[in-house]
Amino acid sequence: MRIVFGGVAFLVLFWATECVIERVAVDNIEGSFELLEPWPTASPKPQGCCDNSSTTVYLGAGKIGSGVVDSITYGGVGQVVVAPGSISPLVPCSLRALLKVTFDKLPSCIDGCLRYPLCGKRMLRVDLELSPTNRSYFMFDIGDSVSNDGYGGDYSDQTNDAEIDAVFPNVYVRPSDHCPDPPRLLATYTDAVKLGSVNRITLFISNEHIRITNDQGLNQILCHKCLFALNGQPDPSVGGVNQDIYIALNRVIADRADRYGFGVCSARLSWVCPESY
Ligand SMILES: *[C@@H]1O[C@H](CO)[C@@H](O)[C@H](O)[C@H]1NC(C)=O
Ligand SMILES: *[C@@H]1O[C@H](CO)[C@@H](O)[C@H](O)[C@H]1NC(C)=O
Repeated sequence: MRIVFGGVAFLVLFWATECVIERVAVDNIEGSFELLEPWPTASPKPQGCCDNSSTTVYLGAGKIGSGVVDSITYGGVGQVVVAPGSISPLVPCSLRALLKVTFDKLPSCIDGCLRYPLCGKRMLRVDLELSPTNRSYFMFDIGDSVSNDGYGGDYSDQTNDAEIDAVFPNVYVRPSDHCPDPPRLLATYTDAVKLGSVNRITLFISNEHIRITNDQGLNQILCHKCLFALNGQPDPSVGGVNQDIYIALNRVIADRADRYGFGVCSARLSWVCPESY
């Protein structure tokens, strides 16, 4: 009896400790949204609970090669579902790729909008380098559903089908079907990928939360129950686990030739933790 009780007490202590650690990390982070460092030249050193893996995909800018997928451990962050082609394109930065990233569930004492990074695979950082010359139409489409095809649609496959679309020169955030229809927009970031001024855009993605920044000073946070479901939420319609997102580059997630775009030269995926935010 005592042994059983001891085990339970240990579990409770472990659970409480994890929550306290996470909350301390959260409190320390609050309010510190200084502008981002430029494109990281090296992966952050592994510290504490950080996952230092990263994946970089190149989409045909002459100077950095074409169609190269460079992952510190291959598939370091996520999975390359469709790799970019290897032929140097006529239009720079017009190769297309599709990536899938799976998140860790949150500790049981935390749910809802995760504004702050936690240990492990809880907040994804996506760094996109943009073409200095050529951009058009669907530059990227990040969605909760494998069949998202831009403008908030996914052929009604999943209820959790929130999307962030960059339709040149703007970025749109579209809610999942958990929000009544209309509105079909949670936010519009006008000129967030404008040619001639914006060269880099960085997104931070976690459960029911996104932060969007660019090198022209854009820095916005959005918390909403109709954003990405990354904590194992059930889906009332088809489609099982809700712990992943898809990232389509120079195209939409569902392959639609009428929704190809260009202008993303490379994408780097990494995990954010309290030490590296
Ligand atoms: C990331 O961490 C692993 C394990 O600690 C280590 O082997 C690897 O060299 C690290 N990579 C970088 C780029 O720091
Ligand atoms: C790409 O940009 C160059 C330089 O601005 C321009 O001459 C060319 O027409 C553009 N091509 C496309 C397909 O937009």
